[in-house]
Amino acid sequence: MAYQTLIVEIEDYVALIRLNRPEALNALNSALLAELGDALKAADANEKVRCIVITGSEKAFAAGADIKEMSDKSFVEMYTQSFFSAETETILATRKPIIAAVAGYALGGGCELAMMCDFIIAGDNAKFGQPEINLGVIAGMGGTQRLTRFVGKSKSMDMHLTGRFMDAAEAERSGLVSRVVPAAKLVQEAMAAAQKIAAKSQVSVMAAKEAVNVAYETTLAEGVRFERRTFYALFATEDQKEGMAAFLEKREPQFRDK
Ligand code: HXC
Repeated sequence: MAYQTLIVEIEDYVALIRLNRPEALNALNSALLAELGDALKAADANEKVRCIVITGSEKAFAAGADIKEMSDKSFVEMYTQSFFSAETETILATRKPIIAAVAGYALGGGCELAMMCDFIIAGDNAKFGQPEINLGVIAGMGGTQRLTRFVGKSKSMDMHLTGRFMDAAEAERSGLVSRVVPAAKLVQEAMAAAQKIAAKSQVSVMAAKEAVNVAYETTLAEGVRFERRTFYALFATEDQKEGMAAFLEKREPQFRDK
């Protein structure tokens, strides 16, 4: 499908979704988020996709929600439209893993979009921030909650109250990103990570994603119970038999998602 604000390519079972509004540093407007939701639903439903990478340009992953689109809205409009809430739910409902490959600015809604993905690989020029305080508002797509869980209260407060940016090294040090790579190699590295995931059994990949996400929603004891039940359930799959047999026979497993 042809999109106005995205470029989508599928290569070796990975859907690469590039945010593409260069004139606005990929600011997230309604059109872009609607297309992103569409692309994610299509990727989730496509048998030729086993992992998803979302990226921007070398200058900006996304510089936030589109300020031009928001600036004149009233409280009543924001509240009754539940601004960007359905779009957020669509991103979070994606069952296949999503890697955010972040170069340049990931600010406001851009940082929040990256944090909604399953993990973040950063280019060494990445800059993360929640600068909404400079606009007289606060984060609105989960930033106060998710950033706090990633980096802890002190750093999260600092970011939300001062609006300062965090560079890639600080983001890695504080657990916001899983790894930092040279910006020029970002997409290549993210695609390699995605292809590695795509080669696993999709059943266990989905189960792992679901189980890690439970850690954000429940107590430790309930989370561990969920994990254990899921772990046991995977013994009903052919891929578990294949994975363990391949290990014992010293060969590569041939997973069939069964
Ligand atoms: C609309 C934006 C934009 C944004 C940049 N642009 N960010 N347009 N919304 N969030 C546009 C600029 O207006 C400009 O357009 C073009 O992109 C290039 O930006 P410059 O500012 O000229 O570039 P530069 O000097 O390099 O500065 C880069 C920057 C700065 C530091 C990233 O653009 C910036 O501070 N942007 C805003 C960041 C921000 O406040 N984000 C939070 C948004 S609120 P023209 O037409 O002038 O060339 C948010 C809430 C989320 O995200 C919750 C929603 C529910």
